[in-house]
Amino acid sequence: MSDINLEQLGEQILSDIKAVKDKNALEQLRVGTLGKKGSVSALLSTLGKMSPDERKIMGPKINALKQQVAKEIETRQTELKAIELELRLKSEKIDISLPLQPAPTSTGRIHPVSQVIDEISAIFSGMGFSIAEGPDIETDELNFTALNFPPDHPAREMHDTFFFEPDENGERKLLRTHTSPVQIRTMRKANKKPEADWITSTIEPPIRVIMPGRTYRCDSDQTHTPMFHQVEGLVIDKVTHIGHLRWVLEEFLKSFFEVDNIKIRFRPSFFPFTEPSMEVDVQCDRSGGEMKIGQGTDWLEILGCGMVHPNVLRNAGLDPDVYQGFAFGMGIDRLAMLKYGMADLRAFFDADVRWIEHYGFRPLDMPTLFGGLSS
Ligand code: DAH
Repeated sequence: MSDINLEQLGEQILSDIKAVKDKNALEQLRVGTLGKKGSVSALLSTLGKMSPDERKIMGPKINALKQQVAKEIETRQTELKAIELELRLKSEKIDISLPLQPAPTSTGRIHPVSQVIDEISAIFSGMGFSIAEGPDIETDELNFTALNFPPDHPAREMHDTFFFEPDENGERKLLRTHTSPVQIRTMRKANKKPEADWITSTIEPPIRVIMPGRTYRCDSDQTHTPMFHQVEGLVIDKVTHIGHLRWVLEEFLKSFFEVDNIKIRFRPSFFPFTEPSMEVDVQCDRSGGEMKIGQGTDWLEILGCGMVHPNVLRNAGLDPDVYQGFAFGMGIDRLAMLKYGMADLRAFFDADVRWIEHYGFRPLDMPTLFGGLSS
């Protein structure tokens, strides 16, 4: 090959490199020149056939061309990269004034009742209680008789209780009017009575359980709905007394209302399944139109409790001369209304998405004693 041809080839390659518009074409050009079968490599392979004098002249020229081509390709590569980046920066725009898309984990809301049940469970778990549950459709025996309700007790009346039609055996089931029948179920399970087979957890005396769940009464106004929620508590062993009951309730109420101190008072009351029976009032402040728990000089009735009646222990198969303990029951919906300032209970069950978005809780904000109950 003559000098002229070499020069022409060099110019051609260099102008081709400059004209290349994308990195794929540049790569093709590189293979076509410097690759094994490329035009520059082909020139190099002619060196072997040249006379030593010719090789002395042509060798450095061809090698110089090879190096120049390699350098120009590299330069063009850098240029193309810069052009590509420039184009991307121009086309990819972020409008920072656009509203954020909510993350999938932050949509949906936990209903205040579920939240409060989780809060109550977290507090009582911290005190060593387990959770027990029972069915919504209950027998007359467990809802009333075993709980020491006399046959003519007014709570059995039609206007309070939703009864089902009697079955073929004449047994009249009902929608449980309170969570107290789960006390009997739990104690019978502890006592290994066969009727309690449905309970899957293994609870044995000493018993420390809470029993949250749905309850039903024929009633409806601003603070009553035909379906509502209660949580029952039960502690049974050989030595438990009212002092323990008072401590448990105080600790629970302090944790639940997230206050450092709280005053409670016991008022004598009557429930067929406890003796003595008491109602518990919690200290509150009603001035300023807002209810504040744990402050002020007013009192608010918050729950019922007492020492489990010997007849109830007996009905559940436990010997009242060996075992004793306390029970308590409270309305979950009412606790939620008090803590989160909701005025009308009926709205809880209207399934209005605006209400749940306002009063509901974020799915991943789970209440724990260490992380905070409601934060
Ligand atoms: N079962 C009662 C009710 O529905 C509440 C209650 C009161 C439960 C006292 C108890 C208790 O366990 O000891 O009104």
